[in-house]
Amino acid sequence: MRSPCDFGTTNGVLGYDAYPSQDRASPAESVRNADQTMQNQTHFGFEQVAESDKAQRVAGVFDSVFRRYDLMNDLMSGGLHRLWKAFTIDRSGVREGSRVLDVAGGTGDLSLAFARRAGKSGRVWLTDINGAMLSHGRDRLADQGFFLPAAQCDAERLPFPAGYFDCVSVAFGLRNMTHKDRALAEMFRVLRPGGRLLVLEFSRVWKPLAPFYDFYSFKIIPRIGKLVTRDEASYRYLAESIHVHPDQEEMRAMMEQAGFENVEYFNLTMGVVALHRGFKF
Ligand SMILES: C[S@@+](CC[C@H](N)C(=O)[O-])C[C@H]1O[C@@H](n2cnc3c(N)ncnc32)[C@H](O)[C@@H]1O
Repeated sequence: MRSPCDFGTTNGVLGYDAYPSQDRASPAESVRNADQTMQNQTHFGFEQVAESDKAQRVAGVFDSVFRRYDLMNDLMSGGLHRLWKAFTIDRSGVREGSRVLDVAGGTGDLSLAFARRAGKSGRVWLTDINGAMLSHGRDRLADQGFFLPAAQCDAERLPFPAGYFDCVSVAFGLRNMTHKDRALAEMFRVLRPGGRLLVLEFSRVWKPLAPFYDFYSFKIIPRIGKLVTRDEASYRYLAESIHVHPDQEEMRAMMEQAGFENVEYFNLTMGVVALHRGFKF
């Protein structure tokens, strides 16, 4: 059996085309270009940015916070992220010998837990678009005796063959992606028939709790971020990006659109987070 490395290379650093210069365009072209530009806007938190800029803005966030990322997760969630991740592993069906892809795996929490389950005969790939997060994660796993293959790649263009993995996971990563539909389509492609996708992501909290949750995420989290990482803006982005991310039902519809079947979701901590699971048949 060939390994994914034989099939393609990692995507390396982001590179995006600039929009065509408006100066050289005719008036009609300028209007078309302006329309095109309007169509190619996306969210970066509450800001509207050109699609071509989002990935670099997101890279700036993780380049800034990667050293304190794990500490911040514990502080912000009061340790709950560990339970959310344990639940995800529990629903993964991963066992001895499984092949698992951790997309946007960052500092590697899920990869580590998958590797423990998949054992020596299994194969767990830690991947992320961000070199700093990825190398931090890879080193962290190595310190614990796990030497997993790691690839720096964009979830929207995965360098793996079709039908290769038993399980694909993406935890707190999809929200940051520019074209979530393309990323989901890629995750579908690399799964084998019968394989499953797990999407762990912030979602829509139970309505009566929303005012408290909003206060916490918009007022408290950025302050913790400022104290711990000296980067308030990145943690304001976190709160804003949660707010504009699709809710539970929209997320289910997106997964079905990408081809997943038997899609279901589990609300965790009253919908602060949801785990979506879907199968490729
Ligand atoms: C909030 S962290 C989550 C890390 C880890 N999965 C966890 O649960 O702790 C989000 C990660 O998504 C990565 N990411 C953002 N856009 C991506 C993309 N297009 N492809 C792959 N990874 C991406 C970021 O670099 C970052 O490491």
